[in-house]
Amino acid sequence: MQNGEIRYSLQPIALVIAETLEAATYAATLVKPTYFKTGSPVASIHASNAKLVEPTRPHNGELKPVLRGDAKAAFASAPVKITETYTHAMNHHNAMEMPATIAVWEADDHLTLYDTVQGVSTAQGTVAAILGLPAEKVRIVNKYLGGGFGSKGAIWAASILTALASKAVGRPLKVAVSREQYFASNGLRDEQKQIISLGATKEGKLLSIVHEKQSATSVTDDYAEANGNILNMLYACPAFETKYRVVRANIITPTFMRAPGEMPGCFAIECALDDLAYKLKIDPLEIRRINHADTDPSNGKPFSSKSLLQCYTRGAELIGWKDRPKTNRATRDGNWLVGWGISTASYPVHSNQGNARARYFLDGTLGVSSAATDLGTGTYTICTQTASETFGVPMDKVKFELGDSSLPTTAISGGSMAAGSTTAAVHAACVALMTKIKKYVVADEKSPLHGANTDDVVLKDEILSLKNDPSKSEKYSEMLQRNKQTNIEANGEGKYGASKEHSMHSFGVHYCKVKVDEALGIVRVEKWVGVHAVGRVLNEKTARSQMIGSTAMGIGNALSEQTEIDLRYARYVNANLGEYHVAVNADTPSDIVIEFIPEEDPHVGGVGAKGMGELGIVGVSAAIANAIFHATGRRLRDLPFSPDKVMA
Ligand code: MOS
Repeated sequence: MQNGEIRYSLQPIALVIAETLEAATYAATLVKPTYFKTGSPVASIHASNAKLVEPTRPHNGELKPVLRGDAKAAFASAPVKITETYTHAMNHHNAMEMPATIAVWEADDHLTLYDTVQGVSTAQGTVAAILGLPAEKVRIVNKYLGGGFGSKGAIWAASILTALASKAVGRPLKVAVSREQYFASNGLRDEQKQIISLGATKEGKLLSIVHEKQSATSVTDDYAEANGNILNMLYACPAFETKYRVVRANIITPTFMRAPGEMPGCFAIECALDDLAYKLKIDPLEIRRINHADTDPSNGKPFSSKSLLQCYTRGAELIGWKDRPKTNRATRDGNWLVGWGISTASYPVHSNQGNARARYFLDGTLGVSSAATDLGTGTYTICTQTASETFGVPMDKVKFELGDSSLPTTAISGGSMAAGSTTAAVHAACVALMTKIKKYVVADEKSPLHGANTDDVVLKDEILSLKNDPSKSEKYSEMLQRNKQTNIEANGEGKYGASKEHSMHSFGVHYCKVKVDEALGIVRVEKWVGVHAVGRVLNEKTARSQMIGSTAMGIGNALSEQTEIDLRYARYVNANLGEYHVAVNADTPSDIVIEFIPEEDPHVGGVGAKGMGELGIVGVSAAIANAIFHATGRRLRDLPFSPDKVMA
């Protein structure tokens, strides 16, 4: 495209378009590229030609080394020491829905892209910048998204190629990425290796954490998951150090994938802490209580809310932790060894502002809009609920609209920000609209409420009246008609996670029971208990559903998800759902218990909800590793725990 260099397998070298998918697919087979020069690819951090370098290129903002105290000295003098290496296979998001784009140009160089993106406002900015258009000439539309998990957070090459090709042929154009192409079209979760050292007292109190992460990135960018962030704040520990190194490999640039950084970082520390617990003969739950961080050790700030200890206790009751045998290899069920595991979970509140517009119409309909995205997680539902509750109209009177960059700008559905920031915006817009309507009616000389104090005006069941004298009233629609209006509208800006004085995180705990057949190398997850505290739960049903989904995705990460690369050619050998195994129903227990600890967070802003979409996957693979260790006495440190590794 821009030059003749091919840096990774499945990199687009041409776009073939036709009247039908069949014709285009056939025509693509007629393209015969000539390769002038070939080289040996770097395909893995484990390959013999892999070279570790310091990350210096774009996207490395979070990859600077972190030093808090003298972690190496504290480790050297610690009475108890653990040093272990954890590895993590390359993963792909594999949303059910393929990435796809439809481009439509209008005469005045105005582009509309119907695109599978997690954030239409963000995409608008990116597309405009790449194509050199003013933002108002680019409109991005996406009313429903079939999953993203981070793969649709950025704008990738196919979207831009679709826009350019559509312009070239002067017609609307649709491009859909195939499952195989999806392995190199929208990023991936980096293949990585973590070396972690824990220094502790004989009582199990952490004195030092020293961590290094090595991962594969692309030859053009240095994106890598910032695992150190969670390691720096999860437990009370006076000294911490992390550093990052990357291998520039012949792969597409990695990107965010569900709980980027938190998820693999948590795997390393939660397994290491479990090892420490066994070494010191301390109950794994107890060692987590012993190291509970009352304030955020990474910055000394108080938490805006934290109910982790309550999560531990409630989860322990639900799984029956006290009846768990203290030693490993203690429970048998026929050919199966049975074990129980635990992991803490945490995910940060990423501050973001969102905007929304609210309009109250003649017929009593409340129209609310914001350029948010619904990935299938329930954005429509929670925003409708928030508007209904804030404005005091029934849910069926609310028409909530999202997924169009021409609507008020809001955060991307990523970083678990959408619920908090969009409901904050909806709330703000509805409050502003209510105030505006009350001001309007008291200023209207023809209204029976003219001259009243706005605080004394009530709007209920489409009727405006005086609080202390309900005989003074009129219908909202009458007031509008008299003034020849069809609606009144107001905008609101919501502030989510804006506190500077607090550290803001969601917390939770995973407990699981697994069965292991060592002869066959099979791990069955029998039961799952997740207890989480996420501030206000906006909708119990959609929240629970998200937790089940992210737990299931974590089970896939732990037991089966692995992108296999042929080291000779840097080509994917399992770029399909038949051989890249995401967890399906048969892999997930029917017994998944999810509970939320009631929690009020007065500092997080908006309606008091903290993010949860990514929290649920953090620690899942660690809980399974810890349960396998309890069941078998063997510590697995190389994800995924496929049968070859489980077999004794
Ligand atoms: Mo998510 S990885 O923040 O889209």
